[in-house]
Formats: sequence, C-alpha cells, structure tokens
Amino acid sequence: MSEISAAITAVHGYVPEDRLTNADLEKMVDTSDEWIRTRTGIRERRILKGEGKGASDLGAEAVKGLLAKSGTKPEEVEMLICATATPDHLFPATANIISDKVGIKNAWSYDIMAACSGFLYALNTASQFIETGKYKKIVVVGADKMSSIVNYKDRSNCILFGDGSAAVLLEPNTERLGVRDAIMHSDGMGCQFLHQKAGGSAYPASIQTVENEEHFIHQEGQTVFKFAVSKMADVSAEIMERNGLTGDDVDWLVPHQANLRIIDATARRMKLDDKKVMVNIQKYGNTTNGTIPLCLWEWEDKLRKGDNLILAAFGGGFTWGSIYMKWACDPIQKI
Ligand code: ACO
Repeated sequence: MSEISAAITAVHGYVPEDRLTNADLEKMVDTSDEWIRTRTGIRERRILKGEGKGASDLGAEAVKGLLAKSGTKPEEVEMLICATATPDHLFPATANIISDKVGIKNAWSYDIMAACSGFLYALNTASQFIETGKYKKIVVVGADKMSSIVNYKDRSNCILFGDGSAAVLLEPNTERLGVRDAIMHSDGMGCQFLHQKAGGSAYPASIQTVENEEHFIHQEGQTVFKFAVSKMADVSAEIMERNGLTGDDVDWLVPHQANLRIIDATARRMKLDDKKVMVNIQKYGNTTNGTIPLCLWEWEDKLRKGDNLILAAFGGGFTWGSIYMKWACDPIQKI
C-alpha cells in the first residue's frame, strides 16, 4: 500500500420525513407487524414523496450537509461518485445531477451500480484515486429511492425497502489511518434471483413490460438470503484474517442493512459482541446504497481516531465485499 491512504474526514446523511410503518403495510398487503419484525428486524422506513423527485434529491441533501459541516467549498471537490441502484435516469449519471444541484463545478462525476454493495465498490474505487496522491477531496455518496421500484402489492419485497442517502468526504492521510484493505467480489449468475427485469436495453419499457409488472424488484428471497448469509460472513472473516484481526480487535462492524438475521450471522462469525454492531434497520429498512454511510453518520459521535471498522455488504449481482478501515478522526460535530 502507498504511504498515502484514503480517510473519511466527514459524513452526513439524509432521510425523507415521510414514514411507512409496519402498521401501514398491514393495510396494504397480507402481512403483520410481528412477521416483519421477527423475520427482518424492520419497524418502519422513510419514503421520498413528490412529483419528479429522485435519488439525486436525496443525494444532494446529504452532500450539501457534508460540505457545510466539513467547511468544504463546492469548487474544492475534485470528484464525486454516486452509488445507486435507482438513478434518476439511465443517463446522465445521477452523480452529474447531484453535482449540479449542490454547485460542484470543478469535479468529474459518475455512478457506480452494484446494487447493495455499490457504496463499498464506490468507496474502494475512490480510495485508489486518493492513494495515487493526485486527488485531495473526493465525495462518495450512496443514494436510493427504492420506493420507485418496489411493488407495493408484493408482500415479500415491499416490507424490506426504504429511501435514504448519505455521503462521505475522502481525503489523504499519512498516519496509516483510513482504508487499509478491501475485498470485492461479483458473480453474475445471481441475476436470475434478484433483478429489475425491464427498463434497460434487454427489455426496454413497453406497455407489455408495465402490464407484466417487470419494472419492479424481483427477488427470490430465500435463495438470496442463503447467499447473503454465507458470503457476507465469509468476506468479513477473510478480511479479518488477512489483517491479523480477532473479534477483540474490531471496534465496529458496519454491515449492510438488508435483514437483521443476516447481520447477526455475520457478527457471530466474526465473534463480535452485539454492542459493536451498527444496526438501524428498524428505522430505515434497506436503503440499498444508503445503509452503510447512514450507519457511519448515526454513529459518528461514538467513533474514535484509530478505531478498527469492518464494513461489509451483499447485494444483487450478486455482489459482495468488505472494507477494513481505521477511523481517522475523533468525534466531529453533528449538524
Ligand atoms: N408477511 C407475512 N408472510 C410473508 C411475508 C410477509 N411480508 N412475506 C413472505 N411471507 C410468507 C411466504 O409466503 C411464506 O409462506 P409459505 O410458507 O406459506 O409459503 C413464508 O412467509 C416464508 O417465506 P420466505 O420467503 O421463506 O421467508 P424468509 O424467512 O426467507 O424471509 C425475506 C423473506 C425477508 C425476503 C428474506 O428471505 C430475506 O431477507 N432475503 C434476503 C434479502 C437480501 O439480503 N437481499 C439482498 C440485498 S437487496 C439488493 O441488493 C437490492
């Protein structure tokens, strides 16, 4: 690894005000609060309402707050990467739209699509640019309006997802803090079990695709669950072993929030005490690319310089991965 590492120096999150509770869902599909809580851990999610509002609106709020709290001028940002599974449009990139909405004019920006692992893919990608020494300020934002692709007649999926966003500022560090290691994987055979069939070049939107409800998430939950449990736990254990870390050395697990049972299985495999695991799935559900940075945002006042963090995700693709980082700053003021 080069002497320069990429460190998160600020984090900020945004969730819309409107809530969709388990009680609300009980009125929409044949489900119960008890089933949802025990099978997933979720109690409520946030929903972005308003004609013409998309993932960029969520992302722009997070980035605006990030720049304000870190005292960064928009013109200082050199690059912005947006991880999203629900871009405003297939093109241009949602990252371009976010940059425009917050006045970032001197940066180049693009999207990364890797479903629920997208934020880790984007963070790993951005870290490489910082490590070269050429880039000093990169924004990585995870933003998803999952409510735009959820079928609210499908009880096995509509209970899972919510809307949200969070962003981090990456800067160079020469104290061996920040991102220390990353392991990323993908396997395209997973497409059949978790995808949004229509709307891309293979099945462009048509009256037929709309009538067949092919613009919504299709997920074979049990199969995806089995892969998620084994892959997220495997990759977390692998990154610990590769860096000589035991459960005692890890201060925080920052897991993707898809299902509390997947998070628990990963923590058990890492031999981690529950208190070291960031969990906010009960409030937001699965916000896809928002989950990991939203956790960092909510826990930032508890994070100390030098803390060992393991970030882990699994998602559609299939994609999965883990990042080991040493937190680079003492608590920063939340706004
Ligand atoms: N309320 C009540 N009953 C339900 C509901 C519901 N909301 N949903 C399903 N059921 C029923 C099923 O119909 C089934 O009934 P049956 O036994 O009579 O056939 C029973 O509950 C069990 O269904 P399963 O699908 O086996 O339930 P499971 O325990 O697997 O939970 C869930 C489903 C929550 C979807 C789980 O499989 C899961 O979390 N999967 C992984 C999700 C994930 O990690 N996705 C990747 C990230 S997402 C991304 O990348 C975009």
